[in-house]
Amino acid sequence: MSTQNETRRLTAPDIRSRKGGEPIVCLTSYHAHTARMVDAYCDVILVGDSLGMVMHGLETTVPVTLDMMILQGHAVMRGSKRALVVVDMPFGSYEASKEQAFGSAARVMKETGCGAIKIEGGRRMQETIAFLVERGVPVMGHVGLTPQAINTIGSFRAQGRDEGDWPPIEADARAVADAGAFAVVLEAIAEPLGRRITAQVPIPTIGIGASAACDGQILVLEDMLGLSPRVPKFVKRFSELGPSIEQAVQNYAQEVRARTFPSADHVYAMRKPTVTKLPERAKGPSRA
Ligand code: KIV
Repeated sequence: MSTQNETRRLTAPDIRSRKGGEPIVCLTSYHAHTARMVDAYCDVILVGDSLGMVMHGLETTVPVTLDMMILQGHAVMRGSKRALVVVDMPFGSYEASKEQAFGSAARVMKETGCGAIKIEGGRRMQETIAFLVERGVPVMGHVGLTPQAINTIGSFRAQGRDEGDWPPIEADARAVADAGAFAVVLEAIAEPLGRRITAQVPIPTIGIGASAACDGQILVLEDMLGLSPRVPKFVKRFSELGPSIEQAVQNYAQEVRARTFPSADHVYAMRKPTVTKLPERAKGPSRA
Protein backbone atom coordinates (compact mmCIF):
# COMPACT_ATOMS: atom_id res chain seq x y z
CA MET A 1 0.00 0.00 0.00
CA SER A 2 1.36 3.42 -0.94
CA THR A 3 1.50 6.09 1.72
CA GLN A 4 2.19 8.86 -0.83
CA ASN A 5 -0.46 11.53 -1.37
CA GLU A 6 -1.19 12.32 -5.00
CA THR A 7 -0.56 16.06 -4.49
CA ARG A 8 2.88 17.01 -3.25
CA ARG A 9 2.83 19.85 -0.75
CA LEU A 10 5.16 22.77 -1.35
CA THR A 11 8.03 22.93 1.12
CA ALA A 12 10.05 25.77 2.64
CA PRO A 13 12.97 25.02 0.23
CA ASP A 14 10.50 25.23 -2.71
CA ILE A 15 9.48 28.71 -1.57
CA ARG A 16 13.11 29.69 -0.87
CA SER A 17 14.02 28.75 -4.46
CA ARG A 18 11.45 31.19 -5.86
CA LYS A 19 13.61 34.27 -5.05
CA GLY A 20 13.39 36.66 -8.00
CA GLY A 21 11.03 34.33 -9.90
CA GLU A 22 7.28 34.06 -10.31
CA PRO A 23 5.60 36.03 -7.49
CA ILE A 24 4.75 33.92 -4.43
CA VAL A 25 1.05 34.12 -3.59
CA CYS A 26 0.19 33.93 0.12
CA LEU A 27 -2.98 34.43 2.15
CA THR A 28 -3.98 33.75 5.72
CA SER A 29 -6.57 31.15 6.68
CA TYR A 30 -7.72 29.88 10.06
CA HIS A 31 -10.35 27.30 9.07
CA ALA A 32 -10.53 24.07 7.09
CA HIS A 33 -13.14 25.35 4.63
CA THR A 34 -11.37 28.62 3.76
CA ALA A 35 -8.06 26.73 3.60
CA ARG A 36 -9.59 24.52 0.88
CA MET A 37 -10.46 27.58 -1.23
CA VAL A 38 -7.15 29.36 -0.63
CA ASP A 39 -5.14 26.18 -1.32
CA ALA A 40 -6.35 26.07 -4.93
CA TYR A 41 -4.65 29.40 -5.75
CA CYS A 42 -1.93 30.08 -3.18
CA ASP A 43 1.62 28.86 -2.59
CA VAL A 44 1.66 29.63 1.14
CA ILE A 45 -1.16 29.64 3.69
CA LEU A 46 -0.29 31.50 6.86
CA VAL A 47 -2.18 30.63 10.02
CA GLY A 48 -1.52 34.11 11.35
CA ASP A 49 -1.88 35.20 14.94
CA SER A 50 -4.13 37.90 13.42
CA LEU A 51 -6.75 35.22 14.17
CA GLY A 52 -6.93 36.75 17.66
CA MET A 53 -8.27 39.98 16.21
CA VAL A 54 -10.19 38.53 13.23
CA MET A 55 -11.82 35.46 14.84
CA HIS A 56 -11.87 36.41 18.50
CA GLY A 57 -12.40 40.18 18.38
CA LEU A 58 -9.28 40.91 20.43
CA GLU A 59 -7.77 44.42 20.26
CA THR A 60 -4.24 43.09 19.56
CA THR A 61 -2.49 39.78 18.88
CA VAL A 62 -0.79 39.80 22.30
CA PRO A 63 -3.30 37.53 24.13
CA VAL A 64 -3.15 34.76 21.47
CA THR A 65 -1.91 31.44 22.87
CA LEU A 66 0.00 28.49 21.45
CA ASP A 67 -3.08 26.29 21.92
CA MET A 68 -5.18 28.65 19.77
CA MET A 69 -2.56 28.53 17.01
CA ILE A 70 -2.31 24.73 17.16
CA LEU A 71 -6.08 24.23 16.99
CA GLN A 72 -6.46 26.42 13.89
CA GLY A 73 -3.20 25.19 12.34
CA HIS A 74 -4.53 21.66 12.50
CA ALA A 75 -7.80 22.74 10.84
CA VAL A 76 -5.91 24.45 8.00
CA MET A 77 -3.75 21.36 7.43
CA ARG A 78 -6.91 19.25 7.17
CA GLY A 79 -8.42 21.66 4.64
CA SER A 80 -5.39 22.03 2.37
CA LYS A 81 -3.27 19.72 0.22
CA ARG A 82 -0.78 21.71 -1.84
CA ALA A 83 0.22 24.98 -0.19
CA LEU A 84 3.00 25.28 2.38
CA VAL A 85 1.24 25.91 5.69
CA VAL A 86 3.12 28.30 7.99
CA VAL A 87 1.91 28.72 11.58
CA ASP A 88 2.65 31.94 13.47
CA MET A 89 4.33 31.66 16.86
CA PRO A 90 2.29 33.79 19.27
CA PHE A 91 3.65 36.41 21.69
CA GLY A 92 5.34 34.82 24.70
CA SER A 93 5.97 31.45 23.08
CA TYR A 94 9.50 32.05 21.71
CA GLU A 95 11.15 35.25 23.00
CA ALA A 96 12.50 34.07 26.38
CA SER A 97 15.22 31.81 24.98
CA LYS A 98 16.11 29.78 21.92
CA GLU A 99 15.26 26.65 23.90
CA GLN A 100 11.79 27.98 24.65
CA ALA A 101 11.40 28.81 20.93
CA PHE A 102 12.42 25.28 19.93
CA GLY A 103 10.03 23.68 22.44
CA SER A 104 7.10 25.75 21.16
CA ALA A 105 8.00 25.31 17.48
CA ALA A 106 8.41 21.55 17.87
CA ARG A 107 4.97 21.35 19.52
CA VAL A 108 3.40 23.32 16.68
CA MET A 109 5.02 21.18 14.00
CA LYS A 110 4.25 17.83 15.69
CA GLU A 111 0.66 18.67 16.59
CA THR A 112 -0.40 20.43 13.35
CA GLY A 113 1.84 18.79 10.75
CA CYS A 114 2.59 22.26 9.28
CA GLY A 115 5.71 22.81 7.18
CA ALA A 116 7.13 25.95 8.83
CA ILE A 117 6.65 28.54 11.54
CA LYS A 118 6.86 32.34 11.52
CA ILE A 119 8.37 34.55 14.19
CA GLU A 120 8.44 38.33 14.50
CA GLY A 121 11.67 40.28 15.00
CA GLY A 122 14.95 40.87 13.17
CA ARG A 123 18.38 41.15 14.81
CA ARG A 124 17.04 40.29 18.27
CA MET A 125 15.78 36.95 16.88
CA GLN A 126 18.82 36.12 14.73
CA GLU A 127 20.32 33.61 17.16
CA THR A 128 16.96 31.98 17.79
CA ILE A 129 16.21 31.61 14.06
CA ALA A 130 19.63 30.00 13.47
CA PHE A 131 19.06 27.63 16.43
CA LEU A 132 15.67 26.56 15.06
CA VAL A 133 16.83 26.12 11.46
CA GLU A 134 19.84 24.02 12.57
CA ARG A 135 17.38 21.75 14.40
CA GLY A 136 15.00 21.20 11.51
CA VAL A 137 12.47 23.99 11.94
CA PRO A 138 11.94 26.07 8.77
CA VAL A 139 11.46 29.70 9.78
CA MET A 140 9.75 32.60 8.03
CA GLY A 141 10.88 35.94 9.48
CA HIS A 142 8.77 39.08 9.94
CA VAL A 143 10.24 42.61 10.11
CA GLY A 144 9.06 46.19 9.67
CA LEU A 145 5.82 46.60 11.59
CA THR A 146 5.72 43.76 14.11
CA PRO A 147 2.23 43.80 15.68
CA GLN A 148 3.22 41.72 18.72
CA ALA A 149 5.38 44.70 19.81
CA ILE A 150 2.35 47.01 19.92
CA ASN A 151 2.81 47.77 23.60
CA THR A 152 6.34 49.08 23.05
CA ILE A 153 5.88 50.76 19.64
CA GLY A 154 2.54 52.34 20.63
CA SER A 155 0.62 52.12 17.34
CA PHE A 156 0.26 50.13 14.12
CA ARG A 157 2.00 52.90 12.10
CA ALA A 158 3.96 52.26 8.89
CA GLN A 159 7.74 52.07 9.36
CA GLY A 160 10.66 53.59 7.42
CA ARG A 161 8.88 56.62 5.98
CA ASP A 162 11.98 58.72 6.71
CA GLU A 163 15.19 57.56 5.08
CA GLY A 164 16.99 57.89 8.40
CA ASP A 165 14.84 55.03 9.74
CA TRP A 166 15.91 52.59 7.04
CA PRO A 167 19.24 51.18 8.37
CA PRO A 168 17.80 49.27 11.38
CA ILE A 169 14.98 47.78 9.27
CA GLU A 170 17.42 46.73 6.55
CA ALA A 171 19.72 45.26 9.21
CA ASP A 172 16.76 43.30 10.62
CA ALA A 173 15.92 41.79 7.22
CA ARG A 174 19.56 40.88 6.57
CA ALA A 175 19.87 39.32 10.04
CA VAL A 176 16.84 37.10 9.40
CA ALA A 177 18.28 36.00 6.03
CA ASP A 178 21.77 35.39 7.50
CA ALA A 179 20.21 33.25 10.24
CA GLY A 180 18.80 30.88 7.62
CA ALA A 181 15.12 31.87 7.35
CA PHE A 182 13.59 30.69 4.06
CA ALA A 183 11.56 33.91 3.55
CA VAL A 184 10.80 37.16 5.33
CA VAL A 185 7.56 39.11 5.67
CA LEU A 186 7.97 42.90 5.26
CA GLU A 187 4.99 44.55 6.92
CA ALA A 188 3.89 48.18 6.49
CA ILE A 189 7.13 49.78 5.36
CA ALA A 190 7.71 52.62 2.88
CA GLU A 191 7.61 51.39 -0.73
CA PRO A 192 11.22 52.32 -1.69
CA LEU A 193 12.49 50.49 1.40
CA GLY A 194 10.54 47.35 0.47
CA ARG A 195 12.07 47.47 -3.01
CA ARG A 196 15.57 48.04 -1.56
CA ILE A 197 15.40 45.19 0.96
CA THR A 198 14.11 42.84 -1.75
CA ALA A 199 17.20 43.66 -3.82
CA GLN A 200 19.50 43.20 -0.81
CA VAL A 201 18.47 39.90 0.74
CA PRO A 202 18.98 36.48 -0.88
CA ILE A 203 15.64 35.09 0.39
CA PRO A 204 12.12 35.85 -0.89
CA THR A 205 10.47 38.92 0.65
CA ILE A 206 6.73 38.63 1.22
CA GLY A 207 5.14 42.06 1.25
CA ILE A 208 2.11 43.25 3.18
CA GLY A 209 1.99 46.99 2.70
CA ALA A 210 5.56 46.95 1.38
CA SER A 211 6.14 47.01 -2.40
CA ALA A 212 5.00 45.29 -5.60
CA ALA A 213 8.71 44.60 -6.08
CA CYS A 214 8.61 42.05 -3.22
CA ASP A 215 9.02 38.41 -4.22
CA GLY A 216 5.51 37.65 -2.98
CA GLN A 217 2.47 39.23 -1.34
CA ILE A 218 0.27 38.32 1.60
CA LEU A 219 -3.03 39.68 2.95
CA VAL A 220 -5.39 38.63 5.70
CA LEU A 221 -8.18 36.73 3.92
CA GLU A 222 -11.06 38.37 5.81
CA ASP A 223 -9.61 41.83 5.06
CA MET A 224 -9.41 41.28 1.29
CA LEU A 225 -12.89 39.70 1.24
CA GLY A 226 -14.44 42.80 2.81
CA LEU A 227 -15.36 41.04 6.07
CA SER A 228 -13.26 43.19 8.41
CA PRO A 229 -14.86 46.43 9.57
CA ARG A 230 -11.58 48.42 9.66
CA VAL A 231 -8.59 47.68 7.44
CA PRO A 232 -5.14 49.25 7.03
CA LYS A 233 -4.32 51.36 3.92
CA PHE A 234 -2.41 48.47 2.34
CA VAL A 235 -5.49 46.23 2.06
CA LYS A 236 -7.29 46.07 -1.27
CA ARG A 237 -10.79 44.71 -0.83
CA PHE A 238 -11.08 42.18 -3.67
CA SER A 239 -14.69 41.55 -2.65
CA GLU A 240 -17.37 43.05 -0.40
CA LEU A 241 -18.81 39.95 1.24
CA GLY A 242 -19.93 41.78 4.39
CA PRO A 243 -23.11 43.34 2.92
CA SER A 244 -24.13 40.15 1.07
CA ILE A 245 -23.75 38.07 4.26
CA GLU A 246 -25.86 40.59 6.19
CA GLN A 247 -28.49 40.53 3.44
CA ALA A 248 -28.61 36.73 3.52
CA VAL A 249 -29.02 36.72 7.33
CA GLN A 250 -31.76 39.35 7.08
CA ASN A 251 -33.62 37.26 4.44
CA TYR A 252 -33.33 34.14 6.61
CA ALA A 253 -34.66 35.93 9.69
CA GLN A 254 -37.59 37.30 7.69
CA GLU A 255 -38.49 33.87 6.28
CA VAL A 256 -38.26 32.16 9.67
CA ARG A 257 -40.57 34.78 11.18
CA ALA A 258 -43.00 34.46 8.25
CA ARG A 259 -42.83 30.62 8.44
CA THR A 260 -41.93 30.50 4.72
CA PHE A 261 -38.69 28.74 5.61
CA PRO A 262 -38.39 25.77 5.68
CA SER A 263 -40.54 25.11 2.64
CA ALA A 264 -41.45 21.70 1.22
CA ASP A 265 -38.01 21.59 -0.48
CA HIS A 266 -36.19 21.63 2.86
CA VAL A 267 -38.17 19.15 4.97
CA TYR A 268 -38.38 15.37 4.96
CA ALA A 269 -41.62 13.79 3.78
CA MET A 270 -42.74 10.45 5.22
CA ARG A 271 -41.80 7.40 3.21
CA LYS A 272 -44.74 6.01 1.21
CA PRO A 273 -46.03 2.91 2.99
CA THR A 274 -44.68 -0.18 1.27
CA VAL A 275 -47.33 -2.54 0.00
CA THR A 276 -46.36 -6.09 0.89
CA LYS A 277 -47.53 -8.54 -1.68
CA LEU A 278 -49.38 -11.45 -0.11
CA PRO A 279 -48.85 -14.89 -1.58
CA GLU A 280 -51.66 -15.83 -3.92
CA ARG A 281 -54.31 -17.98 -2.22
CA ALA A 282 -54.38 -21.58 -3.30
CA LYS A 283 -57.38 -22.03 -5.51
CA GLY A 284 -59.93 -24.47 -4.11
CA PRO A 285 -63.69 -24.99 -3.86
CA SER A 286 -65.50 -22.06 -2.35
CA ARG A 287 -67.33 -22.65 0.91
CA ALA A 288 -70.34 -20.54 0.06
O1 KIV B 1 -0.82 37.32 11.66
C1 KIV B 1 -0.84 37.59 10.45
O2 KIV B 1 -1.88 37.47 9.78
C2 KIV B 1 0.39 38.06 9.84
C3 KIV B 1 0.33 38.62 8.47
C4 KIV B 1 -0.31 39.95 8.52
C5 KIV B 1 1.63 38.64 7.80
O3 KIV B 1 1.41 38.02 10.45
